[in-house]
Amino acid sequence: MSLLAKRVELLDTENAFKIGPYIRAIEEQVKEVIKCNLGEPDFPVPDFIKEEVKRQIDLDNTHYCDPQGVLSLRKAIAKHLSETRGIQATADRVVVFPGAKPPIGLCQQTYCDPGDEVVYPSPGFPIYESFIAYVGARPVPIHLKEEKNFTLSGEDMAPVLTHKTKMIFINFPSNPTGGVSSPEQLREIADVIQRRCSDDFRVFSDEVYENILFDGAKHHSIISCPGMEKGTILVSGVSKSFSWTGGRIGWALFPTVGEAEAFKNLNINYFSCIPPYNQEGACTALESPLRHDAIHNMVETFQARRDLVVDGLNAIKGIRCQKPKGAFYVFPNISGVCENLGVMDAFQSLPPNVRQRTSPSTLFQMFLLFEYQVATMDRKSFGRIGAEHLHYLRLSIATDTESLKKGLKRIATASLDGEGFRSFIEKEKHLY
Ligand SMILES: Cc1ncc(COP(=O)(O)O)c(C=O)c1O
Repeated sequence: MSLLAKRVELLDTENAFKIGPYIRAIEEQVKEVIKCNLGEPDFPVPDFIKEEVKRQIDLDNTHYCDPQGVLSLRKAIAKHLSETRGIQATADRVVVFPGAKPPIGLCQQTYCDPGDEVVYPSPGFPIYESFIAYVGARPVPIHLKEEKNFTLSGEDMAPVLTHKTKMIFINFPSNPTGGVSSPEQLREIADVIQRRCSDDFRVFSDEVYENILFDGAKHHSIISCPGMEKGTILVSGVSKSFSWTGGRIGWALFPTVGEAEAFKNLNINYFSCIPPYNQEGACTALESPLRHDAIHNMVETFQARRDLVVDGLNAIKGIRCQKPKGAFYVFPNISGVCENLGVMDAFQSLPPNVRQRTSPSTLFQMFLLFEYQVATMDRKSFGRIGAEHLHYLRLSIATDTESLKKGLKRIATASLDGEGFRSFIEKEKHLY
């Protein structure tokens, strides 16, 4: 008998949290690390939100509260969703969670029985795939294609749907690619889902990047497509829109009050409730007219950085990078660099037990981190299944412009440093 239950081994992770200790160890050697690994905006929480949170603490709004979420916030969320998605959202179908992440696993536990199929994008937010084996469901990745700028259409979705499809995760704007499907593509996806799935499916539409869109584009949600409000769980939160990842406020709008009540009960079992002063801060974030400027300034900065980084990466031989339409990541194809530096050959010559834990893009990621002090994320951090032959990195642009410029220079130098790469491999350290 082992101490930990077997299912614990089935849970994967989010590597963005795991490379922190490596970065700190390098910084302790007084080396400056360019952090292109971070999944959080590098801006302070807007003052108008901070003021409200402080005011709420001074009012002693620091006790247990409604486990479903305080009514003022649920009403603000319902109003925001009704106005921006053209639906009839109500506060009794909204549940507040400690971030937009918890509903991912909680939904899989709540809707999926062993053998049910869960469809999700790859590359995609790692937690979608992470939970599937844990709940005994079957993973069905949809591989988003670089040549389609990592969008998803009806024709991509159709072949993976079966009568066993229980949950379908979609995420636009997307982490890690910044891809955004068009309203026409969303309509196609909605049509194909409604034609092919039994009535008991749920689309989990992860819209945490709803406010971070470039070139003046507007956000579109699958929930606005005809017939989809009754099958869609819409998830979002304050982490990205308001640069408030530590606030731990996310929410989901469920199709029925009954489902919302089931999740309220999960909240009672797991969390009791979410800090009420932060919920009131989130309410202010959604309602204050000051939110428009705060979001606009952040998005403008991200857009300028996106242009800088995409151009910079495309100027490096062996790297090809699409221009993302939203979020704050770029997702370059590094196959050429891997070929030029001999990364593929180095990977093939590793012992099988090491090969299993790494990949060509991981070797380049680690080479960049330990030899050039640029922190990035490898391809397999965004879905492992079927990704063995795909060579990409994710770079976050949530880092100041000067650092990004330095990072680009270092990547350009690293991508020509075959000798350096060979000696990095020979050290047999930090290969995954
Ligand atoms: C696509 C996606 N969904 C959910 C989350 C989780 O957000 P939160 O910090 O609100 O839990 C993230 C965070 O990186 C994300 O990228």
